[in-house]
Amino acid sequence: MMVVLARPSTVLGNSLQPFRFPQNFLWGAATASHQVEGGNRWNDWWEYEQDGRLPFRSEEACRHFDLYEADFDLARSWHHNAHRLSIEWSRIEPVEGQWNEAALDHYARVIRSLRDRGIEPLVTLHHFTNPRWFQQRGGWERADSVDCFLRYVRVVLQRLGNQVRWWLTVNEPTVYAKRAYVIGDWPPCKPKSQLLAMLVMRNMCRAHCAAYSVIHEIRSDAMVGLAHSAPWVEASNPRRLGDRLAARARNFVLNDFPMHLLGPTPRRKLDFIGINYYVRQLVQWRASRKGLIFGIENLESTPDRPRQFSPLGGEVHAEGLRRVLHQFARYGVPLIVTENGLATRNEEDRAGFVDSHVQAVAGAIRDGIDVRGYIYWTLYDNFEWALGYEATFGLAAVDRSTQQRLPRPAAARLAEFARSNSATLMTDALP
Ligand code: BGC
Repeated sequence: MMVVLARPSTVLGNSLQPFRFPQNFLWGAATASHQVEGGNRWNDWWEYEQDGRLPFRSEEACRHFDLYEADFDLARSWHHNAHRLSIEWSRIEPVEGQWNEAALDHYARVIRSLRDRGIEPLVTLHHFTNPRWFQQRGGWERADSVDCFLRYVRVVLQRLGNQVRWWLTVNEPTVYAKRAYVIGDWPPCKPKSQLLAMLVMRNMCRAHCAAYSVIHEIRSDAMVGLAHSAPWVEASNPRRLGDRLAARARNFVLNDFPMHLLGPTPRRKLDFIGINYYVRQLVQWRASRKGLIFGIENLESTPDRPRQFSPLGGEVHAEGLRRVLHQFARYGVPLIVTENGLATRNEEDRAGFVDSHVQAVAGAIRDGIDVRGYIYWTLYDNFEWALGYEATFGLAAVDRSTQQRLPRPAAARLAEFARSNSATLMTDALP
């Protein structure tokens, strides 16, 4: 990969440098089937929504299932040359072993319409939702969940393999396991089942490894990765041993452990790693049951240490993205930022977020890290799981009564990076 770094600008001084991203750098936004398509009645989330335990239902979502062409026109108008989307397993296999040809045709058309617009598809095979039949037989808790997933992967690859090069097998095994089995607010809603959570994560990682081979069998030049939720974790007070140890333990569980589940040499099962980065976690050790091993998160902002928090709770910290990219570069494969976004109603903040995080990526590339793309979460506001339609991450808002997409300033900001494939770099070298 070639990194072209122009000379520092004489007008702006040495700390501001124009930076060109590598050729063919991927710029785009991400979505996931259940969050945007609408009408995904054959999956476990739909069932969960219908039984009234949530105050929200996805219903017709953003009707992306019908409106994808217009949505891709929008992405193209923003100079996106890549788009991350997911295939809904429950549409392809609504009943165990029965393959829905019409759904396969649909996704073939979706991919074609991206290609027609010069947009490279990055396709996720599992993004949190499961077919109902799969969940009813025990979901990811069962060892043979891997075989079920592989059957589906094979069918999809045989149909779409020649049109798609970039595949993400599973989205965020750690988040799925935590929400469904520790917090318990996602189906199958089994709170405090830590052991099951580990088992589920292990099975998802096994599924990734098996899918990696199947995908390569069918398309040898495929680029296969998984999307990992990667917070930047550090000690709140680096001078305190307790904070340092708790941060290390937390970082291991959240970031390194899932990679180790891929086997002794993770890079043999990864052509790239998808980095989903949202927050920094500052960790404080506490002599309490909760804070003993993994510490607790320091969520204080003080005048001598001002910090910015997202309305959903975590700390916004662009430099953390650069550090996370350094951290994952150690696995020796290229990286793509497959998600990064802010749920806010303040458009200046959102545009500033895009700015600072794109700069962080530029900083990492300048440091020598092989980053191949930046994909914002998400194209437009959509069904944000247990938060329904309240969380607004989109580059556009959506008026759900008319399904009109209403672009926000951040879309233009990202479009400018994508158009010029360049940025002005303000960060210094990492200490
Ligand atoms: C998930 C998305 C979700 C986003 C924002 C990620 O963990 O992959 O599905 O909408 O975070 O919460």
